[in-house]
Amino acid sequence: MAIELPALPYAQDALEPHISANTLSFHHGKHHNAYVTKCNELIAGTDLDSATVEEITKAAHAKGDQGLFNQAAQVWNHTFYWNSMSPNGGGAPTGDIADKIKEDFGSYEEFATAFKNAGATQFGSGWAWLVLDGGKLAVEKTPNAGTPLVDGKTPIITMDVWEHAYYLDFQNRRPDYMGAFLTHLINWDFANANLKAA
Ligand code: FE2
Repeated sequence: MAIELPALPYAQDALEPHISANTLSFHHGKHHNAYVTKCNELIAGTDLDSATVEEITKAAHAKGDQGLFNQAAQVWNHTFYWNSMSPNGGGAPTGDIADKIKEDFGSYEEFATAFKNAGATQFGSGWAWLVLDGGKLAVEKTPNAGTPLVDGKTPIITMDVWEHAYYLDFQNRRPDYMGAFLTHLINWDFANANLKAA
């Protein structure tokens, strides 16, 4: 049983004008799909060929299989990223995550600064994350396919800072992309659901 490319949780043009249908066409249809295809090639005929993406990612990490980890983690990270955005997202948080951000960062503004700083200082390709670590929210960054999933932390939100996430819409202006993510796209309903499930 192979893993499958999940559908986007919204229409391809739903995040415009911030992230274009063209970007999502390549990012989801080509990049994410290629990770799924390569992951399936690597697990075919192995004891992981009916495992979930999360199980494959953790197993590859545990046995130091970097090649498989890169593909599986990128499948998982991208699915989590699509859900970290919403056409009606952005702005200050609401619900339990709002209280928790205030408790653990001091204010929403301090969280936003830390999150943007994580994205800006991730040299080259990688991800910025809001995670729950030992009951406390934290911001971190991971290079390449890195994911907090294998570090015993609970991912709450992620932002892809690979160039393929923003180059067609923002060219080299990663800070502008990160600003749009926070102001217009970040999905606090997803964050609240992840916090509740933790
Ligand atoms: Fe990506």
